[in-house]
Amino acid sequence: MRVVWRRLLLGLVISVTSCGSGTPAEPQLSLVPYPASVTRQGEGFTLASGDVVTAPDATIGGFVVSGVLADTGVELALGAGGRIKLDLDAAQAGPEGYELTADENGARISAATVEGLFRGVQTLRQLARDRTVPGVRISDRPRFRWRGAMLDVARHFRPVEDVKRFIDLMAAYKLNVLHLHLTDDQGWRVAIPGRPELTEVGGSTEVGGGPGGFYTVEQYMDIAAYAGLRFITVVPEIDLPGHTNAALASLPELNCDGVAPEPYTGIKVGFSALCPGKPETERFLTKVLTEVALRTVGPYVHIGGDEVEKLSDAEYAQIVEQAAHAVTANRKQVVAWQEAGKTALPPGSLVQYWQTNGGPEDVERAVAQGARVIMSPASKVYLDMKYDDTTRIGQTWAGTTEIDDAYDWDPATLIDGVGEDRIEGVEMALWTETVVTLDDVEHLAFPRLPAVAEVAWTPQGERSFDAFAARLAPIATVWDRWGVDYHRSPRITWP
Ligand code: ACM
Repeated sequence: MRVVWRRLLLGLVISVTSCGSGTPAEPQLSLVPYPASVTRQGEGFTLASGDVVTAPDATIGGFVVSGVLADTGVELALGAGGRIKLDLDAAQAGPEGYELTADENGARISAATVEGLFRGVQTLRQLARDRTVPGVRISDRPRFRWRGAMLDVARHFRPVEDVKRFIDLMAAYKLNVLHLHLTDDQGWRVAIPGRPELTEVGGSTEVGGGPGGFYTVEQYMDIAAYAGLRFITVVPEIDLPGHTNAALASLPELNCDGVAPEPYTGIKVGFSALCPGKPETERFLTKVLTEVALRTVGPYVHIGGDEVEKLSDAEYAQIVEQAAHAVTANRKQVVAWQEAGKTALPPGSLVQYWQTNGGPEDVERAVAQGARVIMSPASKVYLDMKYDDTTRIGQTWAGTTEIDDAYDWDPATLIDGVGEDRIEGVEMALWTETVVTLDDVEHLAFPRLPAVAEVAWTPQGERSFDAFAARLAPIATVWDRWGVDYHRSPRITWP
């Protein structure tokens, strides 16, 4: 009798863990974002200190060495004939695609570009997390070209070292755009040659009245170079024509009445605007956008355009169109929040959908002009939303956002008529009204940052929250190593 019961029970267990053939389904490798194609094969190998990495140049090889050291403590070395090989192979899918194979003899990453190798290195780091690399063949490329994170350094300033740390965290999950929200009512964070008042006055405070700060031209370029080495494009945002109290407080001539307002340290929005029709306004935005464009390596400058309550549509359009012209005159492409869809957009523009305030209609207007879309729906990818009512920092105006909310959506079905072919990519946003320290940044970003990274990278058909949750949990062991203060979401069974 007992034997019969055992047989029945065993049969039940086999039937829930097996797929049709009767072989137990193999759990997915713990990789995030999950690659486009993964095939397990044969034996793998175990990493040992002193193992050699052979790469086409020392910079990309160095990323294997430093990454594996940070993740595992194992010290690899650069040299010839190593069992970890990176090579350039024009036959691979570019520009970010790569192929990674691992067997008992070692691992090889091939890509058409060094950028593709860099993405593959992040996969190798995850495979090597516990030092044993499984036998595998991975063929990978991203779903979307634009996989971004916005960091608001205006509401609370973050020093260069913190931004570099954020870049490292982004790079580990194959993100490739860092959108720096550099100016807002509460702070002006980048030096503009010839306009020192902007940083002397506008950079001198932040939300809550703290000391603020700003990046010198050299520091801004240092951030861009650090990001660039990691194949991350910095997109600077100068938010216009609203969100401009810091500029208005710095330069009295920008105000219609010529009187500068006090610096602002609260968290209201919508109350400030540049003065439409005043020659000083166009001179100012042309000067600022030119100086920023000149020092920006990537092809984009973001001109803001969100949440303007003080201007008529015509006044708004006049200033946004002046700003867009200043960007294209410097041979850069315009990026703007969705509201700019109401204005005439130059060819090559991108609009960023943030969902509220009539977002779909504005995006449809932009798309009708030929613009492409970056998806940043606030209820899914605004990382400053609390996870739940107990989260110690953050806001709730777009709801609370647990990790499954951030994960479980398809960018291509969000707005009717704006399908995959109109979408440039996905960008999460971390606004910092309530975010005071680097720990705060990390607590809100983790684990949602890797979740959104997978939305942007992995084919929709390969994604499910349950599989993602199972893959993500073991990855948290490296966050402990890196010292990341992450939210222990109840939706994940953490190790
Ligand atoms: C925004 O959240 N104001 C773009």
